[in-house]
Amino acid sequence: MLPRCNPFLGIRPLLLKSSYTISVSGATSAQRWFSQSPLISSTPPIDQNNDETATTTHFGSKIVPKLEKEKMVGHVFSSVASKYDLMNDVMSLGIHRLWKNHFINKLDPGKRLTSKQPLNFIDVAGGSGDIAFGILDYAKEKYHDQVSTMDIVDINPDMLKEGEKRALDQGRYYNDPRVRFMVQDGEKLDAIESNSKDIYTISFGIRNFTDIQAGLNTAYRVLKPGGLFYCLEFSKIENDLMDLAYQQWAKILPVMGSVIANDFDSYQYLVESIERFPNQENFKTMIEKAGFQSVGYESLTFGICAIHWGVKI
Ligand SMILES: C[S@@+](CC[C@H](N)C(=O)[O-])C[C@H]1O[C@@H](n2cnc3c(N)ncnc32)[C@H](O)[C@@H]1O
Repeated sequence: MLPRCNPFLGIRPLLLKSSYTISVSGATSAQRWFSQSPLISSTPPIDQNNDETATTTHFGSKIVPKLEKEKMVGHVFSSVASKYDLMNDVMSLGIHRLWKNHFINKLDPGKRLTSKQPLNFIDVAGGSGDIAFGILDYAKEKYHDQVSTMDIVDINPDMLKEGEKRALDQGRYYNDPRVRFMVQDGEKLDAIESNSKDIYTISFGIRNFTDIQAGLNTAYRVLKPGGLFYCLEFSKIENDLMDLAYQQWAKILPVMGSVIANDFDSYQYLVESIERFPNQENFKTMIEKAGFQSVGYESLTFGICAIHWGVKI
């Protein structure tokens, strides 16, 4: 469960914000969601993965057949599902809770009193339920919203089971008619109608997709016009000293994974998948390519991770 109060309040500015950009096009819709002043930002080209072909892709640093990657990622998350919190705490020194809290607070989700319609949320790659439950809790506490709906979708049934177990243990959102747990590939979301969702969230999930651009195109498809794409993901560290420290940390992480969870390979994959993920500007370009406008991002903790967003106009 996300902490209700922020134990890191004093160091929050250091841990969280290190840069913030939002492009100006479609600013009116964006301002529905964000009150900060827009800044114009440039969009350099996407990294070219020259070592990939139409039939192969990366699994961490290895080149594997595209058809195999999904299975291999499935194996990683089935393997870590029951120790999911431990994995996140080890990988982020516990800061992932702070990042997730900030992600939800910045989104400020919930049906406003002036609106007649409930909001339809979808949390993709949301197996643990962390973000989905956090959003529903926030909407209830801040906006007394107990009508909006949530689809929690994940490709991995073991991760979804973990989320359902948490809902049951915590006595909320289990067997709740507003909440659906669905096994779905985020690249396709076959069971989700086009133009049906108000807010699409994805947290620490999209870097595991075989085809990230397909996932972004699908996010665009399922959102209603005016809907918001909102993503939390590891990103590129923008501070040299911090980057050096992270490189050292990344070397020992798989060893810690082996000691704590008897699982060297999954932790090795997680480190490599972070290293391969596009930097802030390149990911922003991919979001724009999917059709989103008012695209922007906020780097957190020197760029260790970032929140990206875009609006479907
Ligand atoms: C690191 S976990 C993140 C879980 C949760 N969103 C959070 O922030 O705690 C990554 C999740 O992405 C899911 N995933 C990987 N590839 C996926 C895909 N193509 N479609 C849907 N989910 C996927 C995994 O099964 C796993 O549950």
